[in-house]
Amino acid sequence: MESYERLLLNNKAFVQDKLNIREDYFSRMVDEQHPDFLWIGCSDSRVPANEVTGTEPGELFVHRNVANLVIHTDFNMLSVLQYAVDVLGVHHVIVCGHYGCGGIKTALTRKDLGLINKWLRHIKDVYRFHERELVSITDEKQRFDRLVELNVIEQVGHLAEISFVQKAWRKEQRPTLHGWIYDIHTGLLKELIKIEPGEYPDDIYQYRFDEEEM
Ligand code: CO
Repeated sequence: MESYERLLLNNKAFVQDKLNIREDYFSRMVDEQHPDFLWIGCSDSRVPANEVTGTEPGELFVHRNVANLVIHTDFNMLSVLQYAVDVLGVHHVIVCGHYGCGGIKTALTRKDLGLINKWLRHIKDVYRFHERELVSITDEKQRFDRLVELNVIEQVGHLAEISFVQKAWRKEQRPTLHGWIYDIHTGLLKELIKIEPGEYPDDIYQYRFDEEEM
């Protein structure tokens, strides 16, 4: 059996398992989805969003990229975010990083890896913003772990700087923005930062909306 064929076989078992528990497991979700959470996580295969949060299909809207970055010119991430905020009306957006992140680790090196340099460059920026704190950590692993955390905090900050997030705050007092870390050694999630609706970023990032727009 080819390795990929196992996935197709597993799928048949998955369908049967779910139907054994609930006959309408699939049919009840056919018409539309009502997830209350947007998960922005790392592409890393060890951090599957639904499994680690114990959520079922239909509960999490998911975007994943290398090192869970929120880049204000990334139309893929922005499209997912705007759809989640404006159309699905999610109440929570979660940025979830993880210890041992390969993207963060690579950004700490001086390796030239071609195109992905451009993506990892954003992590080098996070390093530069927090260089004083990071260089004071002598243990290499602790420094790496701290950059993983600081990266999540920065990305959650980026969410608060996005105009349509601020507009949803003004109009509907949602979403709450969360920064979490997944510990690949223990399987546990840790809360790092929470930004409530209306906790605006620095003034230069605050948009002023016309009343008619609201
Ligand atoms: Co990662």
